[in-house]
Parts: sequence; structure tokens; C-alpha cells
Amino acid sequence: MHEIPTTYKGMFDLTGKTAIVTGSARGMGYEMARGLMEHGAKVLLVDLNKDGVEEARASLESQGGIIGTISLDVTADDAPARIIEAARELGGVDILVNNAGILSTADFPDMGDDQWDRVMGINLRAPMRIMREALKAMIDQGSGSIINMGSSWSSRASAFNQDGGGPDYCASKAALQALTRSAAQDGATSGVRVNAIAPGVVDTKMHEDRRALIYEYEKYIPVGRMQLAHDVVGACVFLAAAASSYITGQTVHVNGGLLMID
Ligand SMILES: NC(=O)c1ccc[n+]([C@@H]2O[C@H](COP(=O)([O-])OP(=O)(O)OC[C@H]3O[C@@H](n4cnc5c(N)ncnc54)[C@H](O)[C@@H]3O)[C@@H](O)[C@H]2O)c1
Repeated sequence: MHEIPTTYKGMFDLTGKTAIVTGSARGMGYEMARGLMEHGAKVLLVDLNKDGVEEARASLESQGGIIGTISLDVTADDAPARIIEAARELGGVDILVNNAGILSTADFPDMGDDQWDRVMGINLRAPMRIMREALKAMIDQGSGSIINMGSSWSSRASAFNQDGGGPDYCASKAALQALTRSAAQDGATSGVRVNAIAPGVVDTKMHEDRRALIYEYEKYIPVGRMQLAHDVVGACVFLAAAASSYITGQTVHVNGGLLMID
């Protein structure tokens, strides 16, 4: 029987929860980890970059967080099992943010099969495998929230045409958003929610070699400024918390209005 809340205070409180955030040594992953931590969650930082993830841990612990780290490539065969085990050691498997990803600037006619497999491996197959493992654990316990990082470019041709097409990137993010809906259906009656966040163009190190190019898009962003890593934190905390308990299978677009114009 569903209980109607007696108060709405604390609907963003994550005290007692443990969150896994992949790709959290820097960028949006780090900021989302910080946001979840500041709302009370213990956070497991997962990243390929061993030094980066330890620096992130030191920074978050100095702000009072309870933080675990695991340094691995999300595409490794044993990555899902190792991540879930490390999360259980830290506190549990309550929240998963599948954020690790890479950009591609391939032109389609020149895009090799290896390139396609690499981008799909990191941006789609790895989050699928980690999500599958987390979903099982969450269905067993009857609660959980999974957040996948999509992109505005899941429904567009790449913004970076002048610099290559990125068809593999766009396809990987569209597929991840589609997979979000199927996973949400599987978790829906078991108290497990699965949603995606689709950022627009965000000034992070992902674009460090094309920074001038991404700022050319600033004039097309209705809110009038470039998106920064912290802009996705509100949506992440919302989707992780009880505040969004009736929302599942959705993609929340956090892009300053980019997709509302042609
Ligand atoms: N920056 C953008 O414009 C933008 C826009 C829409 C969506 N996104 C998506 O948001 C997510 C975060 O992007 P960001 O801009 O913060 O990126 P970023 O490059 O700043 O950070 C990505 C992090 O993921 C880690 N990582 C990459 N490959 C990994 C692997 N195989 N195993 C483990 N860790 C790995 C990196 O070490 C890095 O710390 C990505 O999925 C990206 O595709 C980014």
C-alpha cells in the first residue's frame, strides 16, 4: 500500500544512501558526486584515471564526505561486479549514475569499425552492463534510482560537423536513452526508477581541444551562456531523491533551452 507523505521536507535528502558515479574524477561526474554527497549520500567514485579519482576523493573528503574509490576501465569484463561489490562495501547499491563516456569527432564515411566499437563499448555497452548488475541488486532490495548520461545530440546530427561528424557518439547516446526506458519498465513495479539526463554542450575537459568551437554554439543557447558542469547537478539530485519518486523512464534535458529552437 502506497503511503502518502505527511511532510515534503527532506524529499531531496539522501542520508543513508550510497551512490555510484562513473567517470567522476572530473567534469560533470565529479560535480554530480559532490551534489549527491552534499545531500547526504556516501559516494563511490569510479574512473579510469587513478590519480584523478584519488584527487577527487581527497577533495570530497575534505568537504566532509564519506567517499570510496575504484579505478577501472568501465569496459572491463569484471567492471560491473567490481563496482557493485565496492558499493556494497561502502554502504549499498541505492543510486547509480552511469556517467563515464567519450566524445567522438569521426566523419561517418571515414569512421572505422574499431572507432565505432570503441565509442559504443564505452558509451553504451559498459553502462548497459553496469546498469544490468545494479538493476538486479536494486530489484532484489525493492528500491533504487539509476541515472544514465545521454545527450541533446541523441536527437540531432553532431554539433561538431566542422570538426568531424560523431555519428557513433550520437547513436550511442540515443541508444542509451532508449535502453533507459526498457530498464525503467523492468524496475517499475519493484521500486526501481531509471532515468536519463541529456546535457547540451558543456564546457568540460572533454572539449579541451575544441574549446573555441564549442563557444561558437553559445549564441544558439537560449539562456545566453555556455553550459558548465555544475548545471546538471540539480537534475541529478532530483532524479536520485524521493522528490522524483513518480518519475521513471524519462530523459531530462538540461541544455539551457537548446532544443526548443531550430
Ligand atoms: N561535455 C559535453 O558537452 C557533454 C554533453 C552531453 C553529454 N555529455 C556526457 O556526459 C558525460 C560526462 O561528460 P564530461 O564532459 O564531464 O566528460 P569528461 O571528459 O570531463 O569526464 C569524463 C570522465 O570519464 C572518465 N572515463 C572515460 N572513459 C572511461 C572508461 N572507459 N572507464 C572509466 N572512466 C572513464 C574520464 O577519465 C573522465 O574522468 C559523458 O557521458 C558525456 O558523453 C557530455
